[in-house]
Amino acid sequence: MTSWARTFGSSIGTKSLMALSGLALLLFVIAHLLGNLQIYLGPEAINAYGHLLKSLPELLWTMRIGLAAMFLLHISTAIRLTALNRSARPVAYRKSEPQIAGVAARSLIATGLLILAFVLFHLAHFTLGTVDPSSFHHVDEMGRHDVFRMVVTGFSNPLYTGIYVVAMIVLGFHLWHAIASLFQTLGLSHPRFRPLIEKVGKTLAVLLVLGNISIPLSILAGIVRLKTGG
Ligand code: HEM
Repeated sequence: MTSWARTFGSSIGTKSLMALSGLALLLFVIAHLLGNLQIYLGPEAINAYGHLLKSLPELLWTMRIGLAAMFLLHISTAIRLTALNRSARPVAYRKSEPQIAGVAARSLIATGLLILAFVLFHLAHFTLGTVDPSSFHHVDEMGRHDVFRMVVTGFSNPLYTGIYVVAMIVLGFHLWHAIASLFQTLGLSHPRFRPLIEKVGKTLAVLLVLGNISIPLSILAGIVRLKTGG
């Protein structure tokens, strides 16, 4: 067996891979939110941003493939860890459980599955345009994909806004448990700093939820809207 296979096969190795892929996904969620917040600057900013990403296909596809790999790694390590935990837990073994156990672990699996369902829906909605084709195929006056119109039209529908708000709250629950545990698994959490890391993790989870849900809610409330006649 190669050392890679040994590491991946062990519980510690699997946990580290899960934490590292989780960290990569967390960084993506932060970067994605920062990009999306440009909706508040109006169509010019967000359409230019969308256009910039698409005009660099090598970068875009490297990011897409990297992101898909991180999702797959995160899911496969979660499955493996659940199986390892089940098979390695004798009935009497109750106390010294790993950091994430019981209710938190079960809630991470449940929220993780819901996030997976959301991502598939989200890709069909804003990347493939199959959910709402009528708002997907517009271009702005500069001939760029009209991301602003697509997002504003999408979230003017309370059903889509509802789906996104619920999904973002689920994501928040996932991150609430996951961020501090991620640092702990990677060995970055000295017991002295544990309360601080917990606080930072939970605060970050709340900020990400608020930032994300602010977008559909401001559109539904008419704070962000299409220019009349536009
Ligand atoms: C309210 C919250 C969100 C909004 C408004 C939003 C908006 C968007 C938009 C507009 C695009 C298409 C970009 C373009 O075509 O230029 C997109 C793509 C994407 N979003 Fe989101 N997003 C949100 C939350 C999330 C979350 C929480 C995740 C991950 C957990 C996520 C993952 C993705 C992925 C993977 C893509 C595909 C990127 C690509 O085309 O390669 N999004 N999002």
